[in-house]
Parts: sequence; structure tokens; C-alpha cells
Amino acid sequence: MKIIDGISRMQTMVKIIKKEGKSIGFVPTMGYLHDGHASLARSARAHTDVVVMSIFVNPLQFGPSEDFNRYPRDFARDEDIARRAGVDIIFYPKKEEMYPARYCTYVDVEGLASGLCGASRPGHFRGVTTVVAKLFLIVKPDMAYFGQKDAQQAIVIKRMVEDLNMGIDVKILPIVREKDGLAMSSRNVYLSKVERADAAVLYESLKKAGEMIEGGERDPKKVINAMSDMIKTKPSMRVDYISIVEAKTLKEVDAISGEVLAALAVFAGNTRLVDNVILKA
Ligand code: PAF
Repeated sequence: MKIIDGISRMQTMVKIIKKEGKSIGFVPTMGYLHDGHASLARSARAHTDVVVMSIFVNPLQFGPSEDFNRYPRDFARDEDIARRAGVDIIFYPKKEEMYPARYCTYVDVEGLASGLCGASRPGHFRGVTTVVAKLFLIVKPDMAYFGQKDAQQAIVIKRMVEDLNMGIDVKILPIVREKDGLAMSSRNVYLSKVERADAAVLYESLKKAGEMIEGGERDPKKVINAMSDMIKTKPSMRVDYISIVEAKTLKEVDAISGEVLAALAVFAGNTRLVDNVILKA
């Protein structure tokens, strides 16, 4: 496995790979890898010739009072997980090279990025789409892999790729969960013992939504209230939002029909956790 920390070295490597007629599978990450990331890399390994994973904690997608400085970082651990998942190249660019002082170009996906997490985290998706566009232009992948856990991010990135004719096949892979259902996330490491145990209620509440819709409930407000009541039974959890939206457009629904996304963000202390399920009425 190669580690490349310079943009021009990465671009040279990409030219060589393309010249050899090989396909590139790309897994963008912010590091502190877990099995969710490894599953993306394994899928890239199975479907493309060369697997590139980027590890870059992107300052642009963090708000001023968010956790950029304390975001968990452990390169040696990441290296080991990436190697075992079949990654060929880790691209590990430096903040100063990605965003030099003169930097002033941004990518904004309007509308889709404004609700759900976009409403709670202004500027977050602008940061995500800007860094992903830059990484795509550097790595030039044939296929790129993202997790369903960040459902809105997945939809926003797919739209960016389509709107800007990037010609990249974007694959969204299922959420990988802990035994008690908690979605794997690099931020789970922040949780205290109590918060970690209580956090299982997030997936429980999403399952409850599924049961209610399966049982014929079509009023999103009733489903959201039931989920909220369930989460409130855990004092360490504080709901940021719970939404039921059209799965493809992320538009709020008055009545549940077709495919909907039940999505939530919940604070456990200062840690913001997200999760979602796609449900069919
Ligand atoms: O999902 C993430 O880890 C990040 O948002 C991404 C896509 C790597 C961009 O920084």
C-alpha cells in the first residue's frame, strides 16, 4: 500500500494508472476508520483495479463551534485498517495544500443541501461538496463509494456529480451497525459509557417508525412524535431533528406514501449522531 501526501504526486500516480488502462475505485474519508469505511473499501476492491482512499479531515465542513480540532485522528490505526480492507493507495493531503491562503472556489448544491442536517449545520454541505469535487478532480475515479449513514450527503454528492457531468459512478452502501444497532461512526468514540448505551435508542426509534408505517400509519407527525417520545426516555439524548421526507428529493411529506427517508440527528452531550432508514409505505 502506498501513502501519497502531495497533490501533484497523486496526480502523477493517477496518470500512470490510467495509462495502464486500470479503473480507479475511490473511498473519500476523514479517517479514524471503522468497519463502515472498510466495507466501502472492500466493495471498491471487488469492482475496480486500483483502490484509492483519501484521509483528510476537511476544515471546510465544520462549523466554528464544531469538533474540527478534536476530531479523532490516528493514522497508524487507519493505515492498518485500510491495508486489511484492500486499499492500494492512501491519499493523505495536507490542509495547507488543499486550501492555500489564496483559495476562493466553492461548490454549492442548492435546495437539497438546505434541509435536515443542512439546516442545523449551515455551510456543512458546501464544505463537503467543495472537498469532494476537489478530491474527484485529483483522483479521477471511475467509481466512488459513500455510506448511507450520511443519507443527505449521498444525495447531494450524487446530484453534484450529475449536474457537473463528472462521469463518476457513485455507489451508496448500507449502514454498518454495532450489535445493538448503533450506526458505526468515527464520532462514537466521544460517547461516555452511559451515552453509548443510551444511543441504541436511535435505531430503536427508526425501527419503531418502520413498524408504525408497516402497520398503516400515514401521518408523519404521529410517527415523528412516537420516535421523539422514545428518544426522550434516555436523558442523555437530545433530539436535534427527526424528519420524514421523500427518499429521493428530501422534500417534507404531509402523508407517508411510496419511499420515504426517516432521518434523525441527536445530541449525546456535545456529540451529534445521525442515523436513518429508508421505508416503503
Ligand atoms: O463522509 C465523510 O467522511 C466526509 O463528509 C467526506 C465525504 C470524506 C468529505 O470530507
